[in-house]
Amino acid sequence: MKLLLKNQRLRFVRNRTNRLIFDSRRKSAGTKSSAFDFPGHHNPMEDNELAATKTLDDLFLDTLKDIYFAEKQILRALPKMARAAQSEEGKAGFLQHRDETQGQIERLEQVFELLGKAARGKTCEAIQGIIAEGEEIMEEFKGSPALDAGLISSAQAVEHYEIARYGTLIEWAGQLGLADAVPLLQANLQEEEATDQKLTQLAKASANDKAKAKKSA
Ligand SMILES: [Fe+2]
Repeated sequence: MKLLLKNQRLRFVRNRTNRLIFDSRRKSAGTKSSAFDFPGHHNPMEDNELAATKTLDDLFLDTLKDIYFAEKQILRALPKMARAAQSEEGKAGFLQHRDETQGQIERLEQVFELLGKAARGKTCEAIQGIIAEGEEIMEEFKGSPALDAGLISSAQAVEHYEIARYGTLIEWAGQLGLADAVPLLQANLQEEEATDQKLTQLAKASANDKAKAKKSA
């Protein structure tokens, strides 16, 4: 046991931020195996070496995968939001944006095609979290006058996430000389911005006032 502990100490070093990290140099020098040597072991040093070769085009592809994943999640969430919404305008708005989202996914697939890459999503925990919060509102405010105001606030959090992503992707596409990708991404951005504005109008015109009412009213 003592020997093993000594070996473990040898295999870890401190990085610049003083965090203990696995020392891959010792591994390549052929030190004896330890309890930490097993297939699939996560080696942060190797990650750093790989990351050192990544550039803006890798970042662009990663972010494209992120928003592709996010749009697909949103496509599934919108019909649920439409069913939950109490006002007819709210229901119609969510359904209309569901159709737009379908078109947005297709535009993203065209961007993947321009890059010569397969359209593939990458798990986006941010959108999963925003959607989970929306589901929480649906459950906790079900049947209450505040439900639609809550649903609108969730939908706006989604829109703002997308607006941030598309803004960045448009800028990077320009930097990378991906001229054909820019209008596709801009079309998505414009739809998200228009949806955000419609949601604001809906909240101001009715949902917020209704939410202020007492349950018995
Ligand atoms: Fe979208």
